[in-house]
Amino acid sequence: MSGFSYIPDPADGAAWVTGASSGIGRALTLRLAAQGWTVYATARSSEKLAELAAQSPRIRPMPGDVTDLERMREIVTAITDQHPLALSVLNAGIYTPMRAQEFDAAEAGRMFAVNQGGVANCLEPLLPHLLARGTGCVAITASVAGYRGLPRAAPYSGTKAALIAMAEALAFDLAPRGVRICVINPGFVETEATGVNDFEMPFLMQPDEVAQRITSGLARPGFEIAFPLRFVLILKALRLLRPRSYFWLVRKAIGWDDVEAPQR
Ligand SMILES: NC(=O)c1ccc[n+]([C@@H]2O[C@H](COP(=O)([O-])OP(=O)(O)OC[C@H]3O[C@@H](n4cnc5c(N)ncnc54)[C@H](OP(=O)(O)O)[C@@H]3O)[C@@H](O)[C@H]2O)c1
Repeated sequence: MSGFSYIPDPADGAAWVTGASSGIGRALTLRLAAQGWTVYATARSSEKLAELAAQSPRIRPMPGDVTDLERMREIVTAITDQHPLALSVLNAGIYTPMRAQEFDAAEAGRMFAVNQGGVANCLEPLLPHLLARGTGCVAITASVAGYRGLPRAAPYSGTKAALIAMAEALAFDLAPRGVRICVINPGFVETEATGVNDFEMPFLMQPDEVAQRITSGLARPGFEIAFPLRFVLILKALRLLRPRSYFWLVRKAIGWDDVEAPQR
């Protein structure tokens, strides 16, 4: 059976969600617990995880920093000593808007370390477990920002493009061995991460709605879970444009068509 057709089910084992202390991960953890999953919840903030676990006896805090490979190994071992991992949602991520005028290499590195390196640190201990079982699902929260470089999002778009490409590359090995890997590509969601945005976010969604769309997507076979549909279709259509047309159209759409080049 191809891994893409595996539908994760609480009868097959436990779930693990990273970035579970707030936003999308928190809403998803609560939803999975309500659907009968035992959910191991990872984030750095032990206090927020304890507060989350107080909402359901099925939620088990497993604090850790995804940039700490040794800790991710400990967490996967601690979970899989108890249950098979039927579903892992590698969702921890950070976002700092960044434009060329204030490009900051240290902050860009931090974003790559958490968003891309953090997922790699979870995959290393997780994949041998899934391959040995020949089943299970790992879902990676990327973003529609990974489809093309978006304005104000130089490193962030890069981290998410890297995740989409990495998941596609891994699918060649995992799917034929019964393991489903998928990417979750949401549009804008109102969370702490996007609270820094000073522009109107199109098609903005709430975390509870996003959690519902993720669980619906996981309940259907496939590789990509992307929403909201209209925004996804617009961004996918923009992928087909040549770079000059893409830059022109997006600058027009966001009102950046008034910037003059400096006089030489
Ligand atoms: N909001 C959006 O519009 C949007 C759209 C597309 C994709 N996404 C992606 O969705 C995911 C969740 O984002 P969100 O919007 O829900 O943001 P959020 O509310 O800021 O949540 C981020 C989560 O990641 C955790 N986290 C951050 N750094 C971590 C680290 N080093 N180790 C472990 N956990 C860490 C945070 O917990 P602690 O601080 O306690 O560690 C928190 O639980 C991210 O990957 C983000 O890129 C968001």
